[in-house]
Amino acid sequence: MRWKMGSTLDLVQSSIKVYSHTFYLLSKNHVRILINVGLSKMRSRLQQFMKQFHPEGIPWPGSLLYNAVSSTEIFRQHYELVAHDVANYGKAECILDIGSGPGHLLIAMQKLLPETRLVGVDISSAMVAQARRNLEKCRQASQIEVRVADANALPFADEEFRCVVSTGSLHHWKDPIQALSEAHRVLKPGGYALIYDLVREMPNAVRKDIRDRFGSFRLGLLWLHSFEEPFLNAEEMETLGRMTDFMVVRTRFTGALCCLVLRKTIILTTNQTQMANQ
Ligand SMILES: C[S@@+](CC[C@H](N)C(=O)[O-])C[C@H]1O[C@@H](n2cnc3c(N)ncnc32)[C@H](O)[C@@H]1O
Repeated sequence: MRWKMGSTLDLVQSSIKVYSHTFYLLSKNHVRILINVGLSKMRSRLQQFMKQFHPEGIPWPGSLLYNAVSSTEIFRQHYELVAHDVANYGKAECILDIGSGPGHLLIAMQKLLPETRLVGVDISSAMVAQARRNLEKCRQASQIEVRVADANALPFADEEFRCVVSTGSLHHWKDPIQALSEAHRVLKPGGYALIYDLVREMPNAVRKDIRDRFGSFRLGLLWLHSFEEPFLNAEEMETLGRMTDFMVVRTRFTGALCCLVLRKTIILTTNQTQMANQ
């Protein structure tokens, strides 16, 4: 009987030790981690839910609203940043913009690459009509063509483009692997696909840069936006790239946009490989 009492007391004492140790572990940092994990789970559930209602293309009057929003300074500076970034990949004779929306990136690229043939496609006819109105206002834009087309079935021949670019459209695609496979098909070997999008998680340095350049209010709006839209994070973008025939070069940031850099590898024939090895 005495032995039983003793061992029960031991058990109670060791349980108290385990509990106090657990409370010790739940210090400030652990509580913060638990809250973050909980919030990110809630966020990802919310995004999965919202994705069902998220339209793939942006119809009218969303096209008008998006045109107004994308004419603001923060967007204008991003189109310029992306255009410079694309130009750094060499002077391609032909560039395709997938999900070109109101056409602002095409106009920014035209200013930097006046010799390049620029083509934009968008699944929304209202967006294409809006892009045509914007292009008409811009006299330099005679070499730009925009048409209604789905990223999943691009109306172009194999290996027609040197470079494929896309901004803010990836998170709308219901079948991103098919869309990237189409981008791969229409690219010449050695060509790049540069897929820019906002991401769920922004590195601190990028967040600070955006705050310094555009202020806390706009940064806050971007953060709020990322709750509703089904954005990926940089790691998920790379995973997506690895599920295609592309070589994933890397992901990196251009302003607030994360860029997934993909390259269509050059496949050498047996003869070419032998010649290269000689
Ligand atoms: C947020 S807007 C971005 C527009 C433009 N690239 C920009 O940066 O201003 C996304 C665009 O992708 C288009 N889009 C969505 N899914 C598409 C698809 N499967 N094929 C082609 N365009 C698509 C939408 O209609 C919309 O115009």
